[in-house]
This record gives sequence, structure tokens and C-alpha cells, in this order.
Amino acid sequence: MPDFGYERNARQQACAPLGAVLVALLVGCDGGAGDRWYTEEQVQRGEAIFEAQCMACHDEGARGDENWRTRDEHGNLPPPPLDGSAHAWHHPLDELREIIADGQNNMPGFGNTLSEEEIDAVIAWFQSLWPDEVYEAWEEYDEAGMEGHAGDGR
Ligand code: HEC
Repeated sequence: MPDFGYERNARQQACAPLGAVLVALLVGCDGGAGDRWYTEEQVQRGEAIFEAQCMACHDEGARGDENWRTRDEHGNLPPPPLDGSAHAWHHPLDELREIIADGQNNMPGFGNTLSEEEIDAVIAWFQSLWPDEVYEAWEEYDEAGMEGHAGDGR
């Protein structure tokens, strides 16, 4: 019986450092979410907001309208994808916030419906769909935008 206790201790001692290495690997390999501006909590909150407020137009998974590049008879574009496959990444964070709060062409504004925190959460959610290359390209726009974007929409 004393043997049993000893073995269990030995196994715990062997596994604890292994566990720490696994955690470090997972954190290091999850797509760099640690480097992004938002938290996992914002992403989760944002998903529910997207489903309630945005999905009707931007479609499930923020895929957008398949004809999003084709203007209608008024020269307006259908809802584009927000999943990193279109040009949402051309807008710095402040501009994304503005588009969502104020609306643009056929997109209504949500400034009266959503709080600033909710708008940030929904941006976090659709950015969590972006591959690292897209996110990194966006970061460059974002930094340039912070330094003096004219604020004229696009
Ligand atoms: C009534 C339909 C509709 C709803 C609801 C809607 N959008 Fe849009 N959205 C559009 C359209 C149409 C455009 C393209 C506007 C343009 O051409 O300027 C757009 C554009 C955008 C853009 C700019 C994308 C780009 O590539 O430039 C963002 C970001 C965006 N929407 C986010 C959201 C979010 C977040 C929500 C929910 C809070 C939302 N939209 C709800 C129709 C909608």
C-alpha cells in the first residue's frame, strides 16, 4: 500500500511539467489570438450581437451577399462579407466603429441600438474569423489610420 501512494506522486511529478509545456504550446499555436486587441469574452458576446443585428444582411458566418461586388440600380452595394474575404480590413478600427454606429449607404446605423462596448464586441467577433495574414494587413491600416485618417468614409 505505501507503494501505491509513492507511484501516484511520481506520476504527478512527471506530468505537471508536461502539462505546462502543453499549455505553452497551445497558447503559442492558437493563431496568435494573444496578439489581437480583443478578448475571447468580447468574441463570444459579439457573436450573439451579430446573430441578432447583422446576420439578416451579412449572412451566417458573415459570408455576405454572394453578389456583394455588384452595385444595384442606385449604385449601392449589397452587404459584403465581414469574414476577412472582402475589404472590411481596409478600415481602421475607428472607421469600422463609425460605419457600424452611423451606417453607410444601404447599411443602417446602430449607434442608437448598440453601446460602444457592443460595437467593439461585434467587431471582435468578425475579426476572429480573419486569418492572421488578413489581420496583420489590417493592423497596418489601423496604425496608419490612427495617425491621421481623413475620416471621409472610404
Ligand atoms: C439592412 C442590412 C444590413 C444590416 C442589418 C447590417 N449591415 Fe453592414 N452593411 C450592409 C451593406 C449594404 C453594406 C455595404 C455598404 C456600402 O456599400 O457602403 C454594409 C457594410 C458593412 C461594413 C463595411 C464593410 C466593408 O467591407 O467596407 C461593416 C463593417 C458592416 N457592414 C458591419 C455590420 C455590422 C457589425 C452589423 C450589425 C451590427 C451590420 N453591418 C448590419 C447592410 C447591413
